[in-house]
Amino acid sequence: MAEKPSPDFKGEAYQPKHEVFFNDGREIALLHYIYGRADLEELRGNPLKILKAIDEYGRTVKYLMNIGEYKSKTVVELIKQEKPEIMVELGGYVGYSAIAFASALKEAGGKKYYSLEKSPEFGAVISVLVELAGLGDVVKVVIGTSSDSLKRLHKDGTLKHIDLLFLDHYKPAYTSDLKLCEELGLVGPGSVFAADNVIIPGNPQYLEYVRSSVEEKLEKFSGTSEPGPKGNPKLVYESKLVEGWEPSGVPDGVEVTRCTGVQK
Ligand SMILES: C[S@@+](CC[C@H](N)C(=O)[O-])C[C@H]1O[C@@H](n2cnc3c(N)ncnc32)[C@H](O)[C@@H]1O
Repeated sequence: MAEKPSPDFKGEAYQPKHEVFFNDGREIALLHYIYGRADLEELRGNPLKILKAIDEYGRTVKYLMNIGEYKSKTVVELIKQEKPEIMVELGGYVGYSAIAFASALKEAGGKKYYSLEKSPEFGAVISVLVELAGLGDVVKVVIGTSSDSLKRLHKDGTLKHIDLLFLDHYKPAYTSDLKLCEELGLVGPGSVFAADNVIIPGNPQYLEYVRSSVEEKLEKFSGTSEPGPKGNPKLVYESKLVEGWEPSGVPDGVEVTRCTGVQK
C-alpha cells in the first residue's frame, strides 16, 4: 500500500512509497537524472541545489528514502547550535543527509563527517554526489555494517569521539549501535544524538532507552542475557522529540538526545 500525504501536509510530497521503494535501480537512475540536467554546471559545488535536484527526483520520478527537507532542518539547526567537530551518520543511502549535514558542519567550522553505509552501491552514489557538492574534503564514506565500521574506525584510531551522531539505518540497530558507541567511549558528556523515523516506522525500544534515567537503565537494561553490546548505563541523557514530516508528507519525528553527564 502506498503511503498517502497527511491532509495537514502543506508541502510538495515525494512520489508515493510503494512496497518496493529502494534498490530497484532508482539510485543509479538518480545519478543519470542529476548528470543529465541542463543546469549541471550550477549544481557543482552547490549542496543546496543538489538537495533540491534530489528532492525534484523524489517528487517527479520515484520515492527516495531520504530524511527530506522538513526533518533535515531540525538536524541542520542542531549543527548550527552545537558546532560539532566530528559527526557520524549511520545509514547514508544516496547522500541526501550527508550533503545537507556535512555542508552545515563545514560552515560551522567542523572537521569530518563519517557516512557509514552498508551497501557498496549506495556508498558509491553517496561519494559521487558528495564530490559534486564540493564536500569531498569533509565527508568520508565508510562501507560496511555500522557496528563493524564503528569498531574498525575506533580500533584504528580514526574515530576517538563523536560530537553528533545521526541514526538513520536499520531501526532495530539504533539501540545496539548507541550502546556500542557508549561502550567504546565514542560518546559521553556533551555528545548529542539525532535519531530519525522514531514515529514512522517508529522505534519504541530506542525511545525507551534514551528516555530512561540511569536507575531505570540499570534496572531494565543491565545484567540481561541479551546478546550485543552492554553500553554504559551510567551516562545521563536528556531527550526530546522534534516533530516533522517525511518527504512523502507523512508525520514523523527526530528524537534529539543530549548526554549531560556520567552518574557516579
Ligand atoms: C533511510 S536510509 C538513510 C537515508 C539517509 N540518511 C538520508 O536521509 O539521506 C537507510 C540506509 O541505511 C542503510 N543501512 C541499513 N542497515 C545498515 C547497517 N547495519 N549499517 C549501515 N547502513 C545500513 C541502508 O542501506 C540505507 O541506505
